[in-house]
Amino acid sequence: TGLITYDPGFANTGACLSSITFMDGEKGILRYRGIPVEELAEHSTFKETSYLLINGRLPSQEELRNFSIMLNDHSLVHEDMKTFFQNFPRASHPMGILSAMVNALRSFYPELQTTEEEINFTVTRLLAKVRTMAAMSYKISRGHTVVYPRPDLAYCENFLNMMFHTPVKPYAFVPEVVRALEVFWILHADHEQNCSTTAVRVVGSGRVNLYAAISAGISALWGPLHGGANQAVVEMLSQIHRDGGDYKRAVERAKDKNDPFRLMGFGHRVYKTYDPRAKIMKKMCDDLLAALDFQDPLLDIAKELEEVALKDPYFIDYNLYPNVDFYSGIVLRAIGIPTNMFTVMFAIGRLPGWIAQWKESMDDPQWRISRPRQIYKGPTETHYVPIDQRG
Ligand code: CMC
Repeated sequence: TGLITYDPGFANTGACLSSITFMDGEKGILRYRGIPVEELAEHSTFKETSYLLINGRLPSQEELRNFSIMLNDHSLVHEDMKTFFQNFPRASHPMGILSAMVNALRSFYPELQTTEEEINFTVTRLLAKVRTMAAMSYKISRGHTVVYPRPDLAYCENFLNMMFHTPVKPYAFVPEVVRALEVFWILHADHEQNCSTTAVRVVGSGRVNLYAAISAGISALWGPLHGGANQAVVEMLSQIHRDGGDYKRAVERAKDKNDPFRLMGFGHRVYKTYDPRAKIMKKMCDDLLAALDFQDPLLDIAKELEEVALKDPYFIDYNLYPNVDFYSGIVLRAIGIPTNMFTVMFAIGRLPGWIAQWKESMDDPQWRISRPRQIYKGPTETHYVPIDQRG
């Protein structure tokens, strides 16, 4: 009909009603279920924040205890899945492996997901297993023996142990590292209708199973303009470092409209000011590196680059500020996470958000299958020409 609105990238489309995450892009505000992300980063854990997002409120002590027990109970993955991991080529990107394996969970756990109890099982299974699968793909890519989850360890410690434990060296739990990981995941836990969450909702709207919808979210997150930006930022900073540290050149290139180069970790569809997550992440870089007594030349380059960019009229006019990905890679490097696992770390963090959004869409009385229209600009009616008569 003539009423179709053309809105590239859905920049002005409110596709759903949601009570999960509030963002104010002008003021730089982010709240999960009404709670400022700064408060959660200071006081909460990733497990508790996941509960908050998925269930709509903070848990009582008993609810949190039961949630932990459930996460522990479901943390192992089916032994047969190991064969799949082992047969991916060594150079495979862990995001491709993760999205394929999350989709494969449906074959290993084919229970129906119709009653509330079944849905809760599936949700817990995903939260518990994604962490195990991520660590497993890393260990296998290094040719190491897989480390199984331990019931006595909390969510973040368990992940760190599965990643870094070797038969000769048990992973030492440096409290600052554990806290940095908690905060990293809390800051990524939801961000309203971003590209990957939209993918989860759109794919889920056809009433596909949760694993398939989440697998679509993981694929969407992989892109360098979205979650892949954390890897792209560190690659960009490393390149600047290798080339002698000329960060001003990167700023000049980003401004040049004939150069496709963009300053990775800068700019955001919604934030027209400093991303509140980037503020926390930047401070965390300083605190973590100081606690570990670790010097990272990339942090110096990042800070200098930020300073120059924020004074530049181009960045001022376009409202381009650091986003969450600008400093997050430096935190991950300090923890010892390899660069190609950065976006997997983002995916683990975003998982509760995707789940909460999927659940909300399933319960939405206004639910309709996602099916946008288009403005057609192809040929008008034309006719089939047999192959022997084509010029
Ligand atoms: N460097 C240089 N110029 C930029 C940048 C940048 N990082 N970001 C936007 N611009 C310019 C862009 O060239 C365009 O200019 P013009 O109007 O003259 O063509 C203008 O700003 C608007 O850009 P856009 O691509 O239309 O804006 P958008 O809202 O569609 O895209 C964005 C937002 C995040 C994709 C974009 O800012 C970008 O590509 N940033 C770099 C990648 C990045 O850091 N992504 C992580 C985003 S935050 C976490 C997440 O979502 O995962």
